[in-house]
Amino acid sequence: MSTLQSTKFEQVQHIFRELVGRETAVTVRAPGRVNLLGAHLDYNEGWVLPGAIEPSVWLAAAPTTDNRVTVRALNLGETAAFQLPHLELFASSVGGNWVNYPMGVAWALQKAGYDLVGMDVVLVSDLPQAAGLSSSAAVEMAFLLAWETLCGFELDNLSRAHIGQKTENAYVGVGSGMMDQFACVASQANQLIYLDCRTFSHELLPLPSDTAVVLVDSGVRRRLASSHYNDRPAECREATAVLQQHLPHIKTLRDVSLDELELLGHHLPETLRKRTAHVVGECARTNSGAAALRQGDVAAFGRLMRQSHISSRDNYENSTPELDLLAATAWAVPGCYGARFAGGGFGGFMQILVAETAVPQLIESINEAFGQEYGRIPPSLVTKLTDGAKVVSVSDVP
Ligand code: GLA
Repeated sequence: MSTLQSTKFEQVQHIFRELVGRETAVTVRAPGRVNLLGAHLDYNEGWVLPGAIEPSVWLAAAPTTDNRVTVRALNLGETAAFQLPHLELFASSVGGNWVNYPMGVAWALQKAGYDLVGMDVVLVSDLPQAAGLSSSAAVEMAFLLAWETLCGFELDNLSRAHIGQKTENAYVGVGSGMMDQFACVASQANQLIYLDCRTFSHELLPLPSDTAVVLVDSGVRRRLASSHYNDRPAECREATAVLQQHLPHIKTLRDVSLDELELLGHHLPETLRKRTAHVVGECARTNSGAAALRQGDVAAFGRLMRQSHISSRDNYENSTPELDLLAATAWAVPGCYGARFAGGGFGGFMQILVAETAVPQLIESINEAFGQEYGRIPPSLVTKLTDGAKVVSVSDVP
């Protein structure tokens, strides 16, 4: 554990003891993630390049004997409880009720045949919510690992990601893919995961050690369930259906080549043509990005991030003026390799890949440009890529 992580660990143990009056039986750290290339490709069965970051959810828990799960979310100042077994679909979280994430995980695990125990839980997080950094996947994976530990079963990372995706798709009501959950559990320090979301094969690709990832908060918040996020998978399915009339072999937009799109794009209504152009282009960019990383060419990788942002902005139409200003400002700073917004879009964080030595200049330029336009300084943080979610401590159940 890093010094920062040890401090967080001590903090959550202490808070648990104070609030619950018992010792913890299990403590889990589950990180957020960046996704530097491969935007909106996971549900199109394309390729993605995410990696875990320092900001994380910390979960401390001890089992109960009455099947009750009580969750104290410190950052929200809220406590919520539910009773196991809890098997009905709840789908009431549109608009955002955080307790549906642990409830959804319980639902998906029980559907998969696992018996769960009740838990007293404390959650402490320094991961911004509804900001494109996968706070919901981190909560899901933290609960999943806690239940695995307390109930004596163990899933592999892919199954964990699929339980998280099932929680989102069927329980929470977001038609997302499985990238966030997979990045949360399978990441390794200083590496991005190059994941094929059809075959689920993956490769770890290092970022040069003298690069930093800077995250800047645009201040615009959205929840995937209530934003236009769900429109995008639906549009991609519609575009696939049109193109299948000419390309019967395609299963998703991942299977369409740039040449085929050029030849057949006129069959699509303009909006669907733009969505398809993003997906087809982004598949090519992500694969080129992986090749660039294999050669240690971070400058080429950064240029692809810039093109990726532009395509999201113009073709996928899920950026915002605040994010576009942050991106354009970052691109102009010497030593900045590339920048694109994080996660599902419609607000949240900008992610910037930059030479470590250029970080002060980058932050100064961003503060100045954003301050001039919006009259406020956007919060920013510098992070490294970290290991994925882990059970940090287990003790004998009291
Ligand atoms: C959100 C979703 C992911 C993925 C990204 C966009 O983070 O949860 O499944 O679709 O948006 O790449």
